This record gives sequence, C-alpha cells and structure tokens, in this order.
Amino acid sequence: MKQGQEKNGAQRLDKLIGNQGQYTRSQVKDLVRQGRVSWNGSVVRRAEQKVMPGDDIRIDGKPVIVRSHIYLMMNKPAGVVSASRDPRAGTVVDLVPEQWQRRGLFPAGRLDKDTTGFLLITNDGEFAHRMLAPKKHIPKVYLAQLEFPFDPALPQRFACGIQLGDGTLCQSAQVSLECPGERPVARVVLHEGMYHQVKRMFAACGNRVLSLRRIQIGGLALDEQLAPGECREILPKELESILYGF
Ligand code: URA
Repeated sequence: MKQGQEKNGAQRLDKLIGNQGQYTRSQVKDLVRQGRVSWNGSVVRRAEQKVMPGDDIRIDGKPVIVRSHIYLMMNKPAGVVSASRDPRAGTVVDLVPEQWQRRGLFPAGRLDKDTTGFLLITNDGEFAHRMLAPKKHIPKVYLAQLEFPFDPALPQRFACGIQLGDGTLCQSAQVSLECPGERPVARVVLHEGMYHQVKRMFAACGNRVLSLRRIQIGGLALDEQLAPGECREILPKELESILYGF
C-alpha cells in the first residue's frame, strides 16, 4: 500500500485530487483555503481531510472525476528492474513520480535490466492481460544493436520461426536492417514475449545483441521527448492504438 493510503482506500483530499493530474497538491491547498472545494456537500476546511475515491468532491461546484486506473508510458533506463518492488535494486515503479503513484502499479510485461525504452506501467490488470495475452499477438518493436554484421538471410530465418538454443520454436517474426555499419542496428517485430527472446534469437543465428531498446507497443511509438526514467500518461486514444492500431 502506498504511503498516505489507508486499508479502506481512504486518503488525503489534497493527494487524491493532486493525483488526478490537473492540480498540484499545493494548488489544491490554495483552493481549499479559498473555500472552493466541497466534500459530500460541505465546504472543505482542511486539505488533509480523509476522503474516499467514491465521495462527491467538487471544485467550484464541478465534480472531480477520480480515475481508478492509470496508464503510464515510461522510457525505461538501463539498470533498473521491471518490477513493482525489489529489495535489492531500484525498480521502474520506484521511478514513477509521486503524482502518479497508486496502489497496485506494476509494469505490464518485462524488459531486461539492461534493456531500455517503452514500458507500460499501470494498475489495470485487465488491460495488461489484453496487451500481453499470447493469443492477441500485439506486436512489440525493438531496435537491437548487434556485435557482428547483419546476415542477409536473417529476415527469412526470422519469418520461418527461429529455434532457440534450448529447442524452443519462436513464432514468425520480422527483422530488417535499420542502420548498417560494423555494429549494425536491426529492427525486430515480435508477436510474443519470451524471456530474453530477442537476445536468444540473435544468439541462435550466431550474432550477439549489444544493446536493446523497445520503441513501440502495438500501434503506439515511444514518445522520444521522454528522457530516460521519465514517464507520461497515455491518452485513451493511444491506449486503443496499442490494442488495435498496428
Ligand atoms: N527481448 C530481450 O532479449 N530482452 C528484453 O528485454 C525484451 C525482449
């Protein structure tokens, strides 16, 4: 449970409103001081007042809509683990700014500790399931820098399904040369998500991934304005394009 939230879901009014993203907590305090906030029909006197998400909270008479689910796009930096909590290391959820911290936030899918790029963080288990369910085949797009030259036979091999070192057969995937050179960059589109999959696919073809970045999930590309470790909310339209926009 996040700090400031009680077992029954009660939390401070300034925090609850601040978490919706329209006002900062100090702005909420000002609004309360100005007598512009009401709670279940009474003017609020203290910004620390405990409220429940379903309560009738208004600012200047207009209801505050409390969204129960949040969806964040993070530009995951290298060196943090894709987990909610880890006693030994920093996690992606630890990097989420206070305004978006919620009970039950988790990364929808995992990127390796050294992988960077688009990670979706949410508290909506159903959406995560729809995005990750193998049957849905939502594509994930990666850029992989390789140690050795790009073998022109790779696109055909990936399309036919790579057999990993342990015998596992991968689904058909797409690979193309994004950036030629001594250490070329390949663009890979996967429709499933096995452990270390991109790295193991290239290893099975005699190459090695030096660095890996996820740049797209479904039809939604990583926002390149996000610095490593930063996140922003995903708009409802963008959520749709994750599921249906590819
Ligand atoms: N494939 C990998 O090898 N690593 C990741 O983090 C994601 C896909």
